Amino acid sequence: PEEQRRHWFVGSIDQGTTSSRFLIFNGEGDPVASHQLEFENLYPKSGWHEHEPLELLASVEECIDEAMRKFVDQGYRKSDIRSIGITNQRETTVVWDNNTGEPLYNAIVWPDTRTKDLVRDLKSRDQADTLTDLCGLPLSTYPSSVKLMWLIENVEAVKQAYEEGRLAFGTVDSWLIYKLNGGAKAAKPIHVTDSTNASRTMFMNLHTLQYDDNLLKFFGIDRSKIHLPKIVPSSDPCCFGKIAKGALSGVQIAGCLGDQSSALVGQCGFSPGQAKNTYGTGCFLLYNVGTKPVISKYGLLATVAYDFGGGRKPVYALEGSIAVAGSGVKFLMNNLGFVDKSSAITELAESVEDNGGVVFVTAFSGLFAPYWIDDAKGTIFGITQHTQKGHIARATLEATCFQTKAILDAMEKDSNAKLESLAVDGGLSNSDLCMQTQADITGIPVDRPGMRETTALGAAIAAGLATGVWKELNDLKDVNQAGRKVFKPNMERKQAEKLFKKWEQAVEMSRGWVN
Ligand code: G3P
Repeated sequence: PEEQRRHWFVGSIDQGTTSSRFLIFNGEGDPVASHQLEFENLYPKSGWHEHEPLELLASVEECIDEAMRKFVDQGYRKSDIRSIGITNQRETTVVWDNNTGEPLYNAIVWPDTRTKDLVRDLKSRDQADTLTDLCGLPLSTYPSSVKLMWLIENVEAVKQAYEEGRLAFGTVDSWLIYKLNGGAKAAKPIHVTDSTNASRTMFMNLHTLQYDDNLLKFFGIDRSKIHLPKIVPSSDPCCFGKIAKGALSGVQIAGCLGDQSSALVGQCGFSPGQAKNTYGTGCFLLYNVGTKPVISKYGLLATVAYDFGGGRKPVYALEGSIAVAGSGVKFLMNNLGFVDKSSAITELAESVEDNGGVVFVTAFSGLFAPYWIDDAKGTIFGITQHTQKGHIARATLEATCFQTKAILDAMEKDSNAKLESLAVDGGLSNSDLCMQTQADITGIPVDRPGMRETTALGAAIAAGLATGVWKELNDLKDVNQAGRKVFKPNMERKQAEKLFKKWEQAVEMSRGWVN
């Protein structure tokens, strides 16, 4: 099988918040060809964040075609690709007409806070405090449920489609799988989601991995009026269909994972107690808790880590979700003109010795885990005549590191175990300064792999497991082990604690600002 694996390749679509990519991995888990495209993020009002669903699809299709061109240029053929996997930004909500397959509104993106009044109202209703035990998530503006409710209540075309039984709902995985299979024109349209993505909607029961009528009822969703995607395992040779057109036409889709689950898989975090932190647009720490979900008492989420099917039990994670990481850097770049490319932010932050007393609570979408403060706003504290751009750049990187520390503290309380080292990946993990700061603030080593496309690799693994590239998890033991770099804590604990106290004070002071 090892010899065979050498000749097999698996593709991976990674549809994220700011860009789409397509990568092709060989049987050793190394990328051999890739293409990436950014698309437009729309902010039509303060707190609103949208994507154009057809633009997401077009960017994915173009990435596939371009990466395939590079693959073929190396002498390979389409038939060398066994299957492809899909990984995606989670919670982002797409609605379309089930008859025509056309979108009915822009996708509402996960950090969007237009639902904050709706959430306040829902929190005061009977049974609001029973939801987390069923689905693992607290009520907030983050999950898909409230986004769908808002769409049905506020967009005439969506309301009408719902009343007429034509409304189809999906997260980005469902939308892409549906369209890549040919959409409404396919002989047999495919409308599915995997359980990791479904666990972000608040509609799925975390214990049964099926829709829960109590949850649907709470959000006012009448199942007879809406087409919900069928929930299937993350790795399967049949459920996800085949690519209908383009450079990969006829190739099977065999894996699907929400991007944070996918990064855990790409880091080979298969044992309980293993964790990873991905610094993308946001930053998400997932801690493998094994085959039984753990409902957090300290502000974390319970979620499906991965569900490989084929008689294997689903594996769960505790998650700490931070809404702003790379998007904080993009804010400094696009809105304030601090730098002209994201990678220059580290240099700017290194132009000063420390944060100069500046703390930046980057609460652009309120604050997520472990705080869940919906009405927090981005706030910068400690500005004096001494303050330079470098201090603000440093404080922006530190904001994600402080929230990670708060999440690790919560995780320790929930799991009764202290993490010994933190595996990291994602765009901001390329910054040595940011990773050293992370190690200093948390007091544990930070372990970064050489190949940091772990999110894409995870979906390739899910697809490869379903199509015989890897037969069992043990076949993956050598994948992504090369070139790791460990950042050791290098700051006195007293100093780290002093800084963290200041951060916590700033968090308290960022509450309650009404625009
Ligand atoms: O829950 C949102 C998350 O899936 C988005 O990930 O990589 O775009 O920050 P990312």
